[in-house]
Amino acid sequence: MKTQVAIIGGGPAGLLLAELLHRQGIDSVVLEKHSREHVIARIRAGVLEQTTVDVLRAAGLGARMDALGHVHDGMRIVWAGRDSFYIDCHKHLGKRFMAYGQSQIQEDLFAAADRRSAQVLTECDAVQPHDVAGEQPWVSFRHRGEDFRLDCDFIAGCDGFHGVSRQAIPATLRREFEKAYPFGWLGILSRTPPLPDITYVNHPRGFALGSQRSPMLSRWYIQVPLADTVDDWSDDRFWAELAARFPSEMARQIVTGASIEKSIAPLRSFVAEPMRHGHLFLCGDAAHIVPPTGAKGINLAVSDVFYLQRALAAFYASGSSALIDAYSATALRRVWSSERTSWYLTKLLHRFPGDSDFDQRAQESELDYLKSSPHAQASLAEQYAGMPFEPA
Ligand code: FAD
Ligand code: DHB
Repeated sequence: MKTQVAIIGGGPAGLLLAELLHRQGIDSVVLEKHSREHVIARIRAGVLEQTTVDVLRAAGLGARMDALGHVHDGMRIVWAGRDSFYIDCHKHLGKRFMAYGQSQIQEDLFAAADRRSAQVLTECDAVQPHDVAGEQPWVSFRHRGEDFRLDCDFIAGCDGFHGVSRQAIPATLRREFEKAYPFGWLGILSRTPPLPDITYVNHPRGFALGSQRSPMLSRWYIQVPLADTVDDWSDDRFWAELAARFPSEMARQIVTGASIEKSIAPLRSFVAEPMRHGHLFLCGDAAHIVPPTGAKGINLAVSDVFYLQRALAAFYASGSSALIDAYSATALRRVWSSERTSWYLTKLLHRFPGDSDFDQRAQESELDYLKSSPHAQASLAEQYAGMPFEPA
């Protein structure tokens, strides 16, 4: 088999890259390990930055998102027994957000791929990139019991944190930065109306978050110890704990119901540098992970893909490799900006086991400062909204 760009992984990064390349007349083949049903069923991200919404709309992927998604201007932060405040990104920056689930984005991307009879091969085993530093990279894989070789000009590693692509960059050239947090998030999805605002809660019992997918679908999270499992948390126990962390007048507004999904995710910050080695490029979770506080994960996958398709389009149009050479540094500037924001929000909003009374007072003072200072709010709004793309 032969193509211009071999894409490993059919998550949001891989399928969006294939779509954007197609719109520039560039051919690709996507090799995905799991079935389409499995990929679509993963309940993950839900809040899209304006830049992400703009990329999806420009790629012809906006119709269902605009019909079903929920537009909002920012986030509310509340903490124990105190007033809340709203970080209004629209007021400060003219930017908005869209609440629209990752599983729906995946459905839209598969539908777009079907419309153009794209080569998206699911249930591929033993996917392995080869000769990535040379002029003729290739990918080996097994599909329906047969072994294949895919020759290509470039390989895009869009295979998530546990994929194989990152390992194709020699360990001597790769630098990894990592921070693990001493707690996880227990999340549930329920067919109940969400609170009016996406609301982050700092409480002595731990962090909580109320988020939204649509007028009748809400997503809720609470901070839990790493040792907890989903079996420890019945729906009744979850709702009781959630309500205990919200101020009572907001807790009374929470509409409870049966959970339709329940999972625990550990929190981690991780960046691998560089994001390019020879003809291999990393995009999305293959190169970096953020803790979910601030909802940056999928937005970073989209910004990497935006920069990469722009670089590849320039190369095929003019033969210039300037943007290809700049890819890693350009993508990493935005990655580190969101890494810093999600690390900061994680520290601001969670209770860390072992924190001293001093740490606690310092955290409360920072929340007081944010509540009282329009300058601090404008700064946080700028970070939460996500940095604009750099011009080519
Ligand atoms: P992925 O979505 O991981 O896609 C990678 C794809 O590659 C997968 O389909 C995988 O099956 C495939 N793959 C893996 N290995 C191979 C291989 N060897 N060969 C071929 N294919 C392979 N972000 C938020 O913003 N908000 C959230 O609430 C949130 N919650 C999350 C909860 C969980 C449990 C996880 C894991 C992530 C969450 N994220 C969240 C992060 C967000 O979902 C990711 O940032 C986003 O999915 C990144 O997209 P991606 O395409 O880079 O990677
Ligand atoms: C979700 C929303 C957030 O604002 C966040 O920080 C993490 C996750 C969500 O809707 O899933």
